[in-house]
Amino acid sequence: MSTPAPASTSISASATRKKVTTLTYRQKKERGEIITMLTAYDYPTALAMDKAGVDSILVGDSLAMVVLGYENTLPVTMEEMLHHCRAVARGARTALLIGDMPFMSYQVSVEEATRNAGRFLQQGGMDAVKLEGGRERVDAIRSIISAGIPVMGHIGLTPQSINQLGGFRTQGKTAAAAKRLVEDALLLEEAGCFSIVLESVPARLAELISKRLSIPTIGIGAGAGCDGQVLVTHDVLGLFDRFTPKFVKKYADFHGAMQKVFADYIEDVETKRFPAKEHTVEMDDKEWEALLKEIG
Ligand code: KIV
Repeated sequence: MSTPAPASTSISASATRKKVTTLTYRQKKERGEIITMLTAYDYPTALAMDKAGVDSILVGDSLAMVVLGYENTLPVTMEEMLHHCRAVARGARTALLIGDMPFMSYQVSVEEATRNAGRFLQQGGMDAVKLEGGRERVDAIRSIISAGIPVMGHIGLTPQSINQLGGFRTQGKTAAAAKRLVEDALLLEEAGCFSIVLESVPARLAELISKRLSIPTIGIGAGAGCDGQVLVTHDVLGLFDRFTPKFVKKYADFHGAMQKVFADYIEDVETKRFPAKEHTVEMDDKEWEALLKEIG
């Protein structure tokens, strides 16, 4: 068993780290090094993640569900995404920052897709964008890339299409569906994507796609054969109370921990244990006497 690194080394990885770029992504794949990605939506989470040394942070449209409380990802808007992107950009120094293009921000026209992608860099402080879909997105992807904006693809389970897919279900389980995903992955690579997210697809299909591509794949619910892994941070922390997908490794129960803290606070206030002397500021006796004299 190897000796764990001292806490100071692992916790402040970003202090000595160079900015991660799309080139780093490619180099990591070439060297057979795994790429790490997590989602973040706010400053303190991005700061902690960046200090821990994550390669990339996705401001995912999962924001809609895990932060804003919607049923699915469809309602989140460009303005809401940009608001959270800016908070993340203020917290992260070295991770590659990827903004997730929300539903209807890139589907209507190539021009609109390119303009909205640009806003993620110009107004959101992101380094790249991600958008969902395969062959049907190639024109938009080419146009965005021609504007100098790196694009991460996303195929398999694409949550913005749940109404078409019939819910959050694994994709590519038949030979025909799997073949279509392989073709889509190759088309996205050819269009210029620097990486592709493979969500909820059989592990051996994800491994095959990862081997066929020269760009890195980032898996979520796609097994260990991808070039990198991503999870939704609220699932990892146990912050999202509604459900936890089977493929998630839950590292903590922050929802339970938060509930306990809030209950403790309520009890402390109600029983007058808080605020105590150490949380209280007092006035100088002389000033106090002067005040009493003044107001009678
Ligand atoms: O929105 C998101 O968090 C995502 C990840 C699940 C890849 O798209």
